[in-house]
This record gives sequence, structure tokens and C-alpha cells, in this order.
Amino acid sequence: MGLRVSLPLSLAFLLILLTTAFAGVFAAGDGFESSDDGDLLIRQVVGDDHLQNADHHFSLFKKRFGKTYASQQEHDYRLSVFKANLRRALRHQKLDPSAVHGVTQFSDLTPSEFKRTFLGLNRRSPRLRLPADANKAPILPTEDLPKDFDWREHGAVTGVKNQGSCGSCWSFSTTGALEGANFLATGKLVSLSEQQLVDCDHECDPEEKDSCDSGCNGGLMNSAFEYTLKAGGLMREEDYPYSGSDKGSCHFDKSKIVAKVSNFSVVSLDEEQIAANLVKNGPLAVAINAVYMQTYVGGVSCPYICSKRLDHGVLLVGYGSAGYSPIRMKEKPYWIIKNSWGEHWGENGYYKICRGRNVCGVDSMVSTVAAVH
Ligand SMILES: *[C@@H]1O[C@H](CO)[C@@H](O)[C@H](O)[C@H]1NC(C)=O
Repeated sequence: MGLRVSLPLSLAFLLILLTTAFAGVFAAGDGFESSDDGDLLIRQVVGDDHLQNADHHFSLFKKRFGKTYASQQEHDYRLSVFKANLRRALRHQKLDPSAVHGVTQFSDLTPSEFKRTFLGLNRRSPRLRLPADANKAPILPTEDLPKDFDWREHGAVTGVKNQGSCGSCWSFSTTGALEGANFLATGKLVSLSEQQLVDCDHECDPEEKDSCDSGCNGGLMNSAFEYTLKAGGLMREEDYPYSGSDKGSCHFDKSKIVAKVSNFSVVSLDEEQIAANLVKNGPLAVAINAVYMQTYVGGVSCPYICSKRLDHGVLLVGYGSAGYSPIRMKEKPYWIIKNSWGEHWGENGYYKICRGRNVCGVDSMVSTVAAVH
């Protein structure tokens, strides 16, 4: 980064073009994440001082995240995965220069372990489409939208939660949206139960009958809103606390419902409409491709390339107008996203991703919900 900034502008552009061209080589399909050729090429550009000190970085990592391994064999395997993830982080840094990528609590997991255990959006089909039978959100006026907006400043967002080793992201996205809608409807911010969704919600996607909400194995926010509508509502977090396991049975108690869905709808793939719905209806349930999130440390993520295959459910809580100014995209606006990996991930549990071109599919599956007054 430092080098790039100090270069004459034209040269910098050339570099960026080159980087993008390299990136293009690995962009085909999703193979690029595991492309070893990619590592080689990028390493030539960045240098590998990080990798030479990998053992030291691994010790720091184990200490910081309290990691222990059952056997020496496991330890050695995790070290090799950690090294591969250092290379990935360097690659992500090249492809996503306005964010900071590095060691996170997920640095000893392979991409597929990470995906299986910490994501959980149930999306069999990689096609991008809004559910055909879902209600479409009415088109809202967009002239008077604020330049910056953040529902956290208006008391509509609960503290950052942690889904643990369970692919239940979809339940956190759902509760987050309903917590906000319920706040708008009642004036009270009440933390809602993900475990109720994990244990009790087996609603299926009307378009793919074999794609149903299934606890730690994934789900969809729209199906979860449908379940919540049918079940009558959600209980309070304290009354039905999160266990991070889907082995238990359903303990839903109808008499303890604290938030009810009145209706929900999908928002069109239009960033102005997304912003308008966010401001009017509260935080929105959105899906995203989380590949850059495994190595994300902070900043505005704006990768040159990112698959739009949606695999993670999160909560859109606001937007900013000008968060950073790399040469390529000066003063570009960004979305503020609440994640469910605890406060120690990202920016106190939050992720920023640039607006403007549906980066990582963030605009592709957006739902808004209203609560009963
Ligand atoms: C709920 O329904 C009303 C009336 O049809 C509509 O105006 C509103 O936009 C809907 N809200 C959501 C969040 O879908």
C-alpha cells in the first residue's frame, strides 16, 4: 500500500490494472481461492517475509485466541493450514487494498471448514434470483435519503452476538432484522432468540422444496420470517438462550412471544432502494459471499473480484458516504454490516463493504420485515 501510494499516478494505475489482470486469471469459477499458482504470483509481488515468520505468527495466534490442539499431528496440520491462510490473507490484501486482511480467529481453518462451520446460508443454487413468489417491497422515494445513516445510533441494534461453530448465520440475520423492526414498532429494543429458529424452524424455500431451514446446517432468512409469521413470533433471547447446537428439541413457548412479524418483502437489486428501505423499515437481512471475511481485520472491503455466490447471512444496519480513498475509487460509499462472529472479529464485530457494484453479491438477496405494533 505504502509503495503504491507514493508512486506516480499513471504507474499506480498500471499496477492496479496488472493486479486486476492477475486477479482475472484466478477469477474463473471459485477455484481461485485454492489456486497455488495464485500464491506464487502474488508472493512475487508482496514478498514473503510474513511466511518466513509463520511459526512465530502461529504462536501469537494460538495465544491470542486460546487455541489448543489435541495432538502434535493436529498441531502440525493446523500450522500448515495457518500458513496457507497467511498466503490467502496476502492475496486478499492485494485484491482488496482498501481493507486490512490478516490473522483472524479463523486462521487455522481451511476455507471449506470455515464455510461449513461458521457460515450457514442455505443456498443450493448459485443462480441469483429473488424468490418469485415473495412479496416485493414497494418502490420508495430516494431523493431525501441522508448521506450517512447508522441504525446503531438510533438504538435499533442489539450487541454483537456469536453463532459459534454452527452454521446458523441465517437465524442471526433474521433476529437482527426483527429486533430492528420491533424497535420501530414498539420503541423497545429486545434481543430475540436465535435458538428458537435453530430448534423449531424447518420451513422450506417455496421454490426449492428440499432446501429447508435446518439449524446448524443452514437456512434462509425469508423462510425464517415465514416460520416466525406462522409460529406467531419469537421469544426473548434470555427466555430461549443460544446454545450453538441443533441437537436439542424445540422449546418454543407461545405465551412468551415478544416480537411478531407483520409482513416481510424482498427489496429489488437497487442500492438506492436498499438504502431507502433500510432508513424507512430498519436493519435489513442480507446475504453475502463471505470469502474475504475469513481474513478481514478492518477497513472497507472492496475486492476487485468476488464471487456473488451467496453463502452467509448478515444484517445491514447502515451506510457511510466516504470511508476511504484508494486511487481506484475515490470516496466511495460503503455499507455497514453486523456480523455474528462475536465482537473480536472485524471492526468490533462489524464489516464494511463498498457500495456501488453489488460487491460479493451484497445487494442480491435483501429482505425487509415489519413487526406488529
Ligand atoms: C408491509 O405491508 C405494507 C402494506 O402492504 C407495506 O406498505 C409495507 O411496505 C410492508 N412492509 C414490509 C417490511 O414489507
